[in-house]
Amino acid sequence: MSSTSHLFLPLFLLLVFSTFISLSASATDSFIFGGCSQLKFMPGTAYESNVNSLLTSLVNSAMFSSYNNFTVQGSTQQDTVYGLFQCRGDLASADCSRCVARAVSQLGTLCLDACGGALQLDGCFVKYDNTTFLGVEDKTAVLKKCGPSIGLTSDSLTRRYAVLATLGASDGPFRITSSGDVQGVAQCVGDLSASECQDCLSDAIQRLRMECSGGAWGEMYLAKCYARYSGRGNHSPGGSDDSNRNDEEIEKTLAILIGLIAGVALIIIFISFFSKVCGTQKGGK
Ligand SMILES: *[C@@H]1O[C@H](CO)[C@@H](O)[C@H](O)[C@H]1NC(C)=O
Ligand SMILES: *[C@@H]1O[C@H](CO)[C@@H](O)[C@H](O)[C@H]1NC(C)=O
Repeated sequence: MSSTSHLFLPLFLLLVFSTFISLSASATDSFIFGGCSQLKFMPGTAYESNVNSLLTSLVNSAMFSSYNNFTVQGSTQQDTVYGLFQCRGDLASADCSRCVARAVSQLGTLCLDACGGALQLDGCFVKYDNTTFLGVEDKTAVLKKCGPSIGLTSDSLTRRYAVLATLGASDGPFRITSSGDVQGVAQCVGDLSASECQDCLSDAIQRLRMECSGGAWGEMYLAKCYARYSGRGNHSPGGSDDSNRNDEEIEKTLAILIGLIAGVALIIIFISFFSKVCGTQKGGK
């Protein structure tokens, strides 16, 4: 019994430790969506090393800017890989680089051996592919999430419309605004021109207004831009989807459970240890 206990103790401590680490991850790292191309590449090929060097470039570059694009030329057209990252406009550079590093590592798992992939966390977006998408406006709807309808007063609905209208009428690739308890955020990927960005955002905002304005919060992600809003009492915009909230709840419950099990295990180990010590002392007398 005691020899197995000795094995289990480090395991329990490790579990408790890793659970606390995952709990401390900030909302910036919340997963929003991810997708991979159907096409796969052969491991060990030139394309694989080009993808790896591209992803490394993205992570390094995120320490110095909130957007950048890279192209790694292959010996053939098929081996060339394109990629970019875009951080949320209000992130500090340390948070931006942390977010991109996390997105890239998640992409590596999610899109193992895929020719292309894209991943959106709350704080950043990363995409790579072997067909060029840099500088190409793309309004394909990627993700729509509407919060639960909460029986809004006409006042609240007016504030939501006002926030969306302000987002649409503002300038620049990153827009943030609020009215009363309603906050709105909108952003384009940095490879769009000002007019393309405006066009993309107008679409996202209009769809958000038509399909999602009566809820506690709403999010509309198109391939190259997004718009979202949330009311007070919800989480910050974006990381506020139900699945994330459920995940957090599950993680918390798990942490408490593992903590309890570890505590009980520790007590058992101590009791068995001391009873053994006492037992040998008694036996020796
Ligand atoms: C991308 O890679 C796939 C698989 O290797 C290949 O079939 C396709 O032609 C490539 N696309 C381009 C534009 O090179
Ligand atoms: C890609 O990056 C280069 C160099 O940083 C820049 O000159 C170019 O405008 C970028 N292209 C796009 C489409 O963002």
